[in-house]
Amino acid sequence: MMGKIRQKIMIDTDCASDDAMAIAMALNDPAYEIQLISAVSGNVPVQQAAVNALTTIEYAGTYNVPVYMGAENMLLRKLEYAYETHGNDGMGDIGLAPKSLKVSEGNGVVKLLDALRGAEPGEIDIIALGPLTNLALAIRLEPETVKKAGRIVIMGTAGLGEGNVTPVAEFNIWQDAEAAKIVVDSGLQHIIFVGWDACLGECMLTPGEIQEIYESGELGKFVIDCNKHLLEMNRERFGDNYLDMADPSAVAAALYPECVEDCEKYYCEVDVSAGPSYGAVLVDVNNVTGKEPNVYICSKLYADKYKEYIYKTLKVK
Ligand code: RIB
Ligand code: CA
Repeated sequence: MMGKIRQKIMIDTDCASDDAMAIAMALNDPAYEIQLISAVSGNVPVQQAAVNALTTIEYAGTYNVPVYMGAENMLLRKLEYAYETHGNDGMGDIGLAPKSLKVSEGNGVVKLLDALRGAEPGEIDIIALGPLTNLALAIRLEPETVKKAGRIVIMGTAGLGEGNVTPVAEFNIWQDAEAAKIVVDSGLQHIIFVGWDACLGECMLTPGEIQEIYESGELGKFVIDCNKHLLEMNRERFGDNYLDMADPSAVAAALYPECVEDCEKYYCEVDVSAGPSYGAVLVDVNNVTGKEPNVYICSKLYADKYKEYIYKTLKVK
């Protein structure tokens, strides 16, 4: 019997420890096939992000995916890496490195466009887990080609909640708000932002769940070990081991939409003004602007379904 057709996806990532868990989950979902991974600077420099993605592919133990480097710099702003959150190598500084895989030749933005150009409209979904520099460059270079993408699911914005890098801004948007503005203002119809609030509260991995994942096997141990810095940060914040896994929440929302509880289309605007609200994404929940809603904001997941998906795709049980 013909095997079920696997939905094609591409992942854009500033691969550090939560990206690694997210990519490992996507690699282990048999309903999807990752066509390529494009790296971007964000948590760490793009070179390190690409290498971290290769390490993750090896630990995921399913199939190989070409990893290309995209943008090294943000469109205008100076980069501020997230070493305190993820470690200097982005993966907990525990000596993780790919055993044999190498970064592929070619620019990640060009390769994203090549894949979309050769695909049917809607054939390939894009999942973005880092600053939107690559996606913004693709839109600027070939807007008609990017329109051929299916859904564009992005880990980004504070959703309907607070920021994580400033009181109002979430890291992926704040790192390159000009790029995010290009994406939000692009007129693309299927943009879904999974806000940082979607991975908080009941969706945080608890100490017991973290232990279960850690003890489940080599992949579970890898995805917890590489989140060592975030665990240490959260022990100080919450008094115990908790993990707010932003990128895994975006991958779950994209690949297992049954776990999405709240997701609505609103008129949104990215603040690129030079001041304390830089990188904020204004969400017109009450439509006071009267402007046409332009992007979806996913602000809440069903915690049980979200964690069920994490357990399934990390082969916990
Ligand atoms: O705000 C969280 C996001 O910023 C995640 O994608 C994390 O990996 C960093 O890129
Ligand atoms: Ca990320």
